[in-house]
Amino acid sequence: MTTEPQAPSTARMIDYWLGGNRHHPIDVAAAQAFEGAYGPCAEIFRSLRAFSGRAARQLAAEGVDQFLVFGAGIPAQGNVHETVPDARVLYTDVDPEIVAAGRELLAGRPGVDYVLGDAANPRGIDPAALDRALPDHATRPVGLIFLGLAAFLDDATLARALDEMYDLVPAGSRLAFDFDAMELSAYPEALAMMGPGFHMREPADFGKLLGRWQLTADGIVPVADWRPDGTPEQVPDAFWGGIAIK
Ligand SMILES: C[S@@+](CC[C@H](N)C(=O)[O-])C[C@H]1O[C@@H](n2cnc3c(N)ncnc32)[C@H](O)[C@@H]1O
Repeated sequence: MTTEPQAPSTARMIDYWLGGNRHHPIDVAAAQAFEGAYGPCAEIFRSLRAFSGRAARQLAAEGVDQFLVFGAGIPAQGNVHETVPDARVLYTDVDPEIVAAGRELLAGRPGVDYVLGDAANPRGIDPAALDRALPDHATRPVGLIFLGLAAFLDDATLARALDEMYDLVPAGSRLAFDFDAMELSAYPEALAMMGPGFHMREPADFGKLLGRWQLTADGIVPVADWRPDGTPEQVPDAFWGGIAIK
């Protein structure tokens, strides 16, 4: 990455919190300002990334070997292709700067690609890229990864997007999702930093937006409590999530 971005990116702020090297001073400044209003974030995002890893491994254990990732951010620090190294993975994001950084990071890796894609319009993902990266996406179950993204979509857009995703993939496909809980509303200054288009949700309200997706028996829980490997991380319940099946 050579050019300095004009604005911070939540994806690169997360990279900073996870100890990566794909962020800029403008991202660090925004991350530190947010922590000034909210409190430490690194542990929370480590816990969220650990949930992503457990969810992807669970899907792989159930036979899923191809993943389509929405709002992927920086594909490092325990991202899908690292936790399920034998799987084929297509990362997508709506931010061209993030896609460029991701493509640079993944260059030369077989079975992994990164293209521009708007999660609000899943059918708009380049069909040629989809065929190339996930050749069996129309015939065998796909793992859809939808993390760190719901807050940027209003209810109507999110419901429509999840419904379109359902039609995009064969039966047996899985959706791993998370969303921002109302926890952040206790920190008005931090919430204001996220801007007016930031949507927190109650678990029951998110559940209704799943539409035809069938939630697994694990339910919608704080991500640290979703099938923990050991003692769940002691972090605020900022993110809740789960898995749903077509
Ligand atoms: C908070 S970051 C999360 C990144 C990653 N999923 C993670 O969990 O670490 C949100 C990402 O979603 C992307 N994004 C926001 N709106 C989007 C949309 N409509 N479609 C696809 N990506 C979107 C942003 O560009 C950013 O990279």
